[in-house]
Amino acid sequence: MAVAQAVVLWRGVQLVLMGQATPGDLLVFFTYLKVAFKPMRQLAKYTGQIAKAIASGERIIDLLEKVPDVRDSKGAQIAPAFRGDICCENVTFAYGSYDSSQSALRGLSFHAQPGEQIAIVGPSGGGKSTLVSLLLRFYDPIEGGVRIDGHDIREYTLASLRQQISIVLQDSVLFSASVRDNIAYGALGGKAKKITDEQIEAAARLANAHEFITQLADGYETILGERGSTLSGGQRQRIAIARAAIRNAPIVILDEPTTGLDSVSEAAVSEALNRLTQNKTTFWISHNLRTVQQADKMLYIEQGRILERGTHTELMRRGDRYAKLYRLQAKATEYPQPYLLNPA
Ligand SMILES: Nc1ncnc2c1ncn2[C@@H]1O[C@H](COP(=O)(O)OP(=O)(O)OP(=O)(O)O)[C@@H](O)[C@H]1O
Ligand SMILES: [Mg+2]
Repeated sequence: MAVAQAVVLWRGVQLVLMGQATPGDLLVFFTYLKVAFKPMRQLAKYTGQIAKAIASGERIIDLLEKVPDVRDSKGAQIAPAFRGDICCENVTFAYGSYDSSQSALRGLSFHAQPGEQIAIVGPSGGGKSTLVSLLLRFYDPIEGGVRIDGHDIREYTLASLRQQISIVLQDSVLFSASVRDNIAYGALGGKAKKITDEQIEAAARLANAHEFITQLADGYETILGERGSTLSGGQRQRIAIARAAIRNAPIVILDEPTTGLDSVSEAAVSEALNRLTQNKTTFWISHNLRTVQQADKMLYIEQGRILERGTHTELMRRGDRYAKLYRLQAKATEYPQPYLLNPA
């Protein structure tokens, strides 16, 4: 801009001196020059933002156009109502390219009876979340397979499989909508609109959420903040449990649903979860062994393998990894030591 002005000024003064222009012409020209440059300067200011917006737009388009790795297989059927018998057979899985030393799951097998509570425990990075994401077919195994009621889950459409599984994760996603709609959303597809107030309330009661909901400004019609920001962590989880209860699916997956809650909220949420999972085939991932101690079966997973399995009592008797972890946690939280550890 400054250089351009200097050039114009130099040439303008020359023209005036030669008598080809008047000083007034020069002044008018200069004024126009400034006016003409202003939008250009502004445009320059925005180019950074425009470039960023184009890049973001391209990323969004890439994401929308991405074909998911897992799709309905040819001839996929609508799944019948599941009983909830789940069999994992020799499942091996790796993120990215297959390399046996890098696999997240290595030849895993287990069987869950309908209505059974399976606790999945073990160190961080062991493969717990990966295992449950295979049940939901977020990924397909490289070897082996998952059967529900005797059928490989790849025989079914993704939608009809996932509709029969309820999930509660550590951080449940709530929407900026009413509490009622946030719960009703759990119902399958078009059924959400037909949910009655009684059903919503029953689900909220099961989830230990009815009390605090009625204390909100507009009760069940209260509009929640973005991602449920106006609620506490424990309250958000209980709404998520009510949502899962409305779904009434035969299979429930819980991935660290009480992590990060204080002990009072944790107790309320755990109680709600115990009600939610009654008679449902349940996979409950937890770092806190005490919350899942009552499970019918524990799977201790480390480095993609099930290293120990059995009930809490059996694993404590065994005195290996699970027992060591339990003792460590018991010491850290000063819970009374279970009698099995001190037979004397
Ligand atoms: N999306 C991903 N892409 C690549 N590798 C992944 C991905 N998710 C998990 N992994 C890897 O797979 C292994 C198992 O991870 P996973 O999340 O299943 O462990 P986890 O037992 O659930 O751990 P945590 O208790 O910390 O949740 C880890 O080595 C992890 O780094
Ligand atoms: Mg995990």
